Amino acid sequence: MKNIDNTSKNSAHIIVFGNEKGGSGKSTTAMHTAIALLRLGYRVGTIDLDARQGTLTRYLKKRFEYITRNREHLPSPAHMAIEKSQRESVSEQKLEEEAFLIMALEELGHVCDFIIIDTPGTDSFLSRLAHSHADTIITPMNDSFIDLDLLASIEMQNYEIIGPSVYSQMVEDQRKVKNKRDGGYIDWIVMRNRMSHLNTNNNRIITKLLGEISKLAGFRLAPGFGERVVFKEMFLKGLTLLDLKEDQNGGLTMSQISARQEVRNLIMEIAPEQIKGYPEQESKSWKTA
Ligand SMILES: Nc1ncnc2c1ncn2[C@@H]1O[C@H](COP(=O)(O)OP(=O)(O)OP(=O)(O)O)[C@@H](O)[C@H]1O
Ligand SMILES: [Mg+2]
Repeated sequence: MKNIDNTSKNSAHIIVFGNEKGGSGKSTTAMHTAIALLRLGYRVGTIDLDARQGTLTRYLKKRFEYITRNREHLPSPAHMAIEKSQRESVSEQKLEEEAFLIMALEELGHVCDFIIIDTPGTDSFLSRLAHSHADTIITPMNDSFIDLDLLASIEMQNYEIIGPSVYSQMVEDQRKVKNKRDGGYIDWIVMRNRMSHLNTNNNRIITKLLGEISKLAGFRLAPGFGERVVFKEMFLKGLTLLDLKEDQNGGLTMSQISARQEVRNLIMEIAPEQIKGYPEQESKSWKTA
């Protein structure tokens, strides 16, 4: 059941993409969510906290290059990247990073319905801080026991869940921080990424364990994204699956249509209309411009 906070209608709803695991699909999913929400008519801002790697920033740069080259209108978010502070002492670094994040949230908060934050695949002060400001956390995870291990420690002999793992514990801590700060609640969504369609034994075990961990750690499971080469191709062009029609003369392939449906399913799970109502000037729903 969705547990959506309807009290935040007047301020931007913050969605943090996080997982202390590199390459699980945070930046790809963050970009797709941002563009999907824009295409539904919402005002969207993005913040890249992984400025060193800068995947989301580079993704958007490629998008702007595409727009310039092709003179096509593609909806794009207001974007900010926050660098790791270069101050000497750790306490100064923390102060500066916090000030930058709060400034970015305030700036975008005035003009956006949703703020999407992409975080690095490692633990950092800035990432933890962003998690504590989240209204929704989305954790993409690859379909493997290694990724599962970040959510719960599991005794692999009998597949028994022993307790929370680093990332779940971090989310739990930030939930407390947020609750103490403003009484707020964080809705946590976990989604599987790069799913294989094979119904293997491992796959079944992961599904079962995820169901059990979700109850203990307090997240809900969203339908995931399959393993699809198209995501890599899209990145190179600065496009998302939701822009595809504008990029192609012909129709879409079956794989592209299914992939796009997976993105829509994730948005349905976020349920933006329950959070922000329907946009005033509703765009052409899921259609491309
Ligand atoms: N569903 C998918 N199918 C195929 N490739 C994918 C899928 N999702 C992501 N990828 C690819 O996997 C790579 C890692 O994805 P991405 O950069 O989004 O992960 P990340 O979690 O942001 O990584 P990092 O922790 O390094 O920031 C990229 O090359 C991306 O194109
Ligand atoms: Mg990334």
